[in-house]
Amino acid sequence: MIELTQGELEKHFSKPIFKQISETADELGLECYVVGGYVRDIFLQRPSKDIDVVVVGSGIVMAEALGKRLGRGAHVSVFKNFGTAQVKYRDTEVEFVGARKESYQRDSRKPIVEDGTLEDDQNRRDFTINALAVCLNKERFGELVDPFGGMEDMKEKTIRTPLDPDVTFSDDPLRMMRCIRFATQLNFYIDDETFESLCRNKDRIGIISRERIADELNKIILSPIPSKGFVDLERSGLLALIFPELMALQGVETRNGRAHKDNFYHTLEVLDNISKKTDNLWLRWAALLHDIAKPVTKRWEPKAGWTFHNHNYVGEKMIPNIFRKMKLPMNEKMKYVQKLVGLHMRPIVIADDVVTDSAVRRLLFEAGDDIDDLMTLCEADITSKNLERKQRFLTNFQLVRQKLKDLEEKDRIRNFQPPVSGEEIMQVFGLQPCREVGSLKSSIKDAILDGIIPNEYEAAYRYMLEKAEKMGLKAVK
Ligand code: CTP
Repeated sequence: MIELTQGELEKHFSKPIFKQISETADELGLECYVVGGYVRDIFLQRPSKDIDVVVVGSGIVMAEALGKRLGRGAHVSVFKNFGTAQVKYRDTEVEFVGARKESYQRDSRKPIVEDGTLEDDQNRRDFTINALAVCLNKERFGELVDPFGGMEDMKEKTIRTPLDPDVTFSDDPLRMMRCIRFATQLNFYIDDETFESLCRNKDRIGIISRERIADELNKIILSPIPSKGFVDLERSGLLALIFPELMALQGVETRNGRAHKDNFYHTLEVLDNISKKTDNLWLRWAALLHDIAKPVTKRWEPKAGWTFHNHNYVGEKMIPNIFRKMKLPMNEKMKYVQKLVGLHMRPIVIADDVVTDSAVRRLLFEAGDDIDDLMTLCEADITSKNLERKQRFLTNFQLVRQKLKDLEEKDRIRNFQPPVSGEEIMQVFGLQPCREVGSLKSSIKDAILDGIIPNEYEAAYRYMLEKAEKMGLKAVK
């Protein structure tokens, strides 16, 4: 974080919109403060987002007056039920709310709201670092109001609630997710008392909608070192409630002196590895889910030891249920995650053996445009502590990548459609749709993928005639 003098802080409020808000507030005789994330992010040097303004009085009256002052080009939306209003002006959005005192009922996030002072309003916020306010009235323009030591906590990189954490979390249990999310995003430490309260109140997460939980989870996954968040989720007991399938990966079993690895920590390592290479949320999800079926496929085989046969395919099948339950999108994003999970063992099998053209062509055919992402996932999956073994795999992956490149240039296998279509086969031999058509089509495909013929129409046509003759089929045209 950076430290700022009052003058330096004031400079962060030099946009004309702040002057307009300031003058409107003074005219109405209302105290008015920028609060929350906007102030926090100035000190943390993060890009600023929407501006939240607290008015000691009515936020709606303030927004309407500002709208009038700005004139054409300003757009005011009033949300009477929430007592808030939004002003959009050029590329800026400002949210106005009256200072409130809130108390919550036990089984709902819906608060009973009363008007309050600025301090009441800061009190009811989630974390000290989110309770900082900067005054906009002319007399005190740029003055920082920090009653709970938010600046100190930012210096100490600490997430702490302004009130007794049991009150803050039980008022709005989503804050338990936000707590871990902020700690992960910002690389902050969760204050001990606050963390203990997470553990005590974890069951209250049950009243929060799945969508909101998924939103926070996605932000954790998109953080620089996402494992930090998952470790906190696990330690607090929240993970077992919101994501039992991931929790099930945890633990090590030993039989006859042979242990398998702890797949929870392995998964987190893969997720951290991939996060160094990509910001693609769904590729990160694929890393998180790549071994999700290991607990259900785990077997002890006296000769082989621990096995997880077909965990990739079983995992692929588990994903729609997980996505449905967690309210994640059931669309092409999910299909992409499924595909990567289903294929994640393939490159390693190839790289463990002699890297043949045919195996690489088949991989390219199945992965299509997602081949690079699949390779990124597989490289992240190498977490062996045996450096020699790790290096051997990474070197072989380089070889697979090189082969992929060479074959791609030569054969154009990605998004490959066999050059002779089923339609054409039917026409040539006067056939209705039947097994022979399918079998001819797939033998042409196999011949191309195995490198027996080039990926070209002429060659494929000749090959089809040869095969058909052996099957006793005669061309009719
Ligand atoms: N807030 C809160 N409890 C919540 C949500 C929000 O107390 N469950 C308060 C915090 O003071 C927060 C402000 O409302 O700073 C704005 O919330 P929001 O826009 O959700 O979060 P930001 O802090 O701006 O951060 P981000 O955009 O990363 O979520």
